[in-house]
Amino acid sequence: MKALVLGSGGREHALALGLRKSSLISDVYVHPGNAGLFLSGGLSPLFSLSPAHDSKEGVAIRARELNVDLVVIGPENLLAQGYADFLSAQGFKVIGPSQAAAQLESSKGFAKAFMEQYGIPTATYFTTQSQSDAEQFIDKAPFSIVVKADELAQGKGVIVTDSKAEAKAAVWSLLCDKKNFNSEKLVLERRLRGYETSAIALVDGDSFYILGYAQDYKRAFDSDQGPNTGGMGAVLRPNWPGASIQRQSEEIFQKTLDGLKDRGLSYQGFMFLGLMIEDDQVFLLEYNVRSGDPETQVLIPNLKVDLGVLFVHVLEKKLHKLTHNTPEQCFVHVVLASGGYPDIAGRGLNLKHPISIPHDLKTSDQVTVYYAGVGMGGDGRLVNKGGRVLGLTACGRNTQEAREKVYDALTKIKLDGSFYRTDIGQEK
Ligand code: AMP
Ligand code: GLY
Repeated sequence: MKALVLGSGGREHALALGLRKSSLISDVYVHPGNAGLFLSGGLSPLFSLSPAHDSKEGVAIRARELNVDLVVIGPENLLAQGYADFLSAQGFKVIGPSQAAAQLESSKGFAKAFMEQYGIPTATYFTTQSQSDAEQFIDKAPFSIVVKADELAQGKGVIVTDSKAEAKAAVWSLLCDKKNFNSEKLVLERRLRGYETSAIALVDGDSFYILGYAQDYKRAFDSDQGPNTGGMGAVLRPNWPGASIQRQSEEIFQKTLDGLKDRGLSYQGFMFLGLMIEDDQVFLLEYNVRSGDPETQVLIPNLKVDLGVLFVHVLEKKLHKLTHNTPEQCFVHVVLASGGYPDIAGRGLNLKHPISIPHDLKTSDQVTVYYAGVGMGGDGRLVNKGGRVLGLTACGRNTQEAREKVYDALTKIKLDGSFYRTDIGQEK
């Protein structure tokens, strides 16, 4: 089979490398990809010259010319735009849910109502389009509040607050301050206290196959300081979280599949539960209808099953035949970000600097480099062109061993103005 991965980040680089190793896949195309990932042998751009206008129709025409069979959709915005529906209707085998099912991620209000209807544990909540109703809810609430924009906001539409005044200010900034944000509708919910885990599975509509439970590091700086980001690092460990948490998470996957069926929504692809564990009880914070970035960069290196074979199991609805993928080693992934990331203050990112990576790191069998926000400079050297530039993954018998490999490699990469967290995988 020939495969196409849609997307341009580190997650797509990891998926493409997973497919390149598959015994079922002869060719791997990526669109649009990035200048770094195409340096990995065996990954090709879909177009030799980037099209002036990127569209699902254009992707389908080119993919057909190249005899692509399988399309794996990486990012949520393409799923929310109906790429999976369109490409399936064009006869491609697609990994990625329908536009209707993608509302689980693209609308927080839709997701919360779904959780409530199907008995999925989640924080108490209230949805509204009115500032005064939101303020009344805040005044009456006997708990701290998290204020969320209803729509896709790449992590920027969620404000965790401590006081009623802060909660009201958050409502104003998301609903009323049109310069800053432009939300039509808000979800207000009880602030949960605990630790988070990302539970990621492949689902075929009837069954699910757990790829793993990863810890994501959302804040920009060490010790969970600074603004929320897309994710600054990820860790995968054996036996984490504990058995009771895994059992409760599996119940949520099952209830979600039952709910999707009940609503007649088709779903074949990755499913990601953003979970918060409070007093050993699992609460679902959010659904993502795709795999995580950077979680994928620790999950794929740990896969013991051929990724192409797994995708065929999804397409043929045979996931129930497989036992979940559990790690026996620790995997640590650390993201190198451009200065200024995540640009909350609107001052811009420190971009277009050359990235220097030693050759032995590019070919290392101990550390894998996944490229994200990189482009090709005029002199043929890679330059940074996005917030998250690249990330490194290594594995070890414990997190310490994996950390040493990653952090040693990071000292050898040079990029002006860049930074990374130094505490990813550090045991407290
Ligand atoms: P979300 O996009 O809904 O996952 O929210 C982004 C981040 O905000 C989560 O990963 C949590 O760190 C935090 N968050 C969201 N909802 C809550 C909640 N109810 N209680 C505490 N933290 C939350
Ligand atoms: N790392 C969190 C996400 O992919 O949404």
